[in-house]
Amino acid sequence: MTLRAVVRGVGHYLPARIVPNAEFEGKLETSDEWIRARTGIVQRHFAAEGETTSDLGAAAARAALADAGLQPTDIDAIIVATSTPDLTFPSVATMIQAKIGLRTGFAFDVQAVCAGFVFALANANALILSGQARRILVIGAETFSRILDFEDRSTCVLFGDGAGALILEAAEGTGAASDRGILATDLNSDGNYRDLLYVDGGVSSTGSSGFLRMQGNQVFRHAVEKLAETAHSALGRIGLTGDDVDWIVPHQANIRIIEGTAKRMHVPMERVVVTVQDHGNTSAASIPLALSVGRERGQIKRGDLIVTEAIGGGLAWGSVVLRW
Ligand code: UT7
Repeated sequence: MTLRAVVRGVGHYLPARIVPNAEFEGKLETSDEWIRARTGIVQRHFAAEGETTSDLGAAAARAALADAGLQPTDIDAIIVATSTPDLTFPSVATMIQAKIGLRTGFAFDVQAVCAGFVFALANANALILSGQARRILVIGAETFSRILDFEDRSTCVLFGDGAGALILEAAEGTGAASDRGILATDLNSDGNYRDLLYVDGGVSSTGSSGFLRMQGNQVFRHAVEKLAETAHSALGRIGLTGDDVDWIVPHQANIRIIEGTAKRMHVPMERVVVTVQDHGNTSAASIPLALSVGRERGQIKRGDLIVTEAIGGGLAWGSVVLRW
């Protein structure tokens, strides 16, 4: 018998306000045409005034619980991947715990920026395999609109707000790659790339929350190379290749990165879940959002082999292989 962390439910939440590319035209020297051609983004959602990351995450959590047919008290732990917490502390995870009416178990945040959900999944998997929790809500939730410099056209058109949630639960498997659940993980980081993508404020430096700064073309170069590499590493651990993959569910930063990675993995775009046109880059929320939307569209089905991969500030990057 091999213990596996298996997907029991999925859900997402997007703030009501949709911001089309056209809203940036006139305010900045940019165009709908440039944004679509260089990124694939058509629109993104922005949180309303007073709507926080934990509000978005709690709504996604409720959707995942409903999908799983579970009550909040069925959950042992909550892990939230976010870089845009409501407050410096306590964690967004404990705030969501309170919002969904749960007083038991444990909750904490993981901060690996755009790769956060992949890191959170790997941590949830380890907690389940080590017997410390049986059912974990893994949430990616972000309000990146709060840290955008709306005078910087090279960053403010790229990001959006949203949240997605997955419920993982312990189940018995055989140990083979045909098992449902998380089959392999691969995590990496290199802090020497700090200046490629960072926020220019923080508690112990400026005492302010700061704004996102990015050398986009540098990050782009690392992304295409490192994402295919990490996906191959994770697949290789269980003797699989791109040919075995039913769906790549990538971090949704840029359609050109998504296409470049799929090409390197020899996976056709028909087998890639793409939501970047509708959500923009929602950082740690992008993968659970894409999983939920992909399931809703009828793309992702029980038994499908899925590879998720992401890269972001740090740099931090990684990949998780799971059978739905
Ligand atoms: O999720 C975390 C990871 N982040 C990413 O994966 C983002 C990775 N990077 C990217 O997606 C792309 O690099 C960008 C979309 C950010 C930029 O695309 P690019 O093809 O790499 O363009 P570039 O940065 O090399 O800039 C090309 C030109 C520049 O003008 P000059 O210097 O050639 O005159 C920019 O100033 O495009 C200009 N530009 C814009 N023009 C119109 C940059 N942003 C805009 C804009 N509208 N919004």
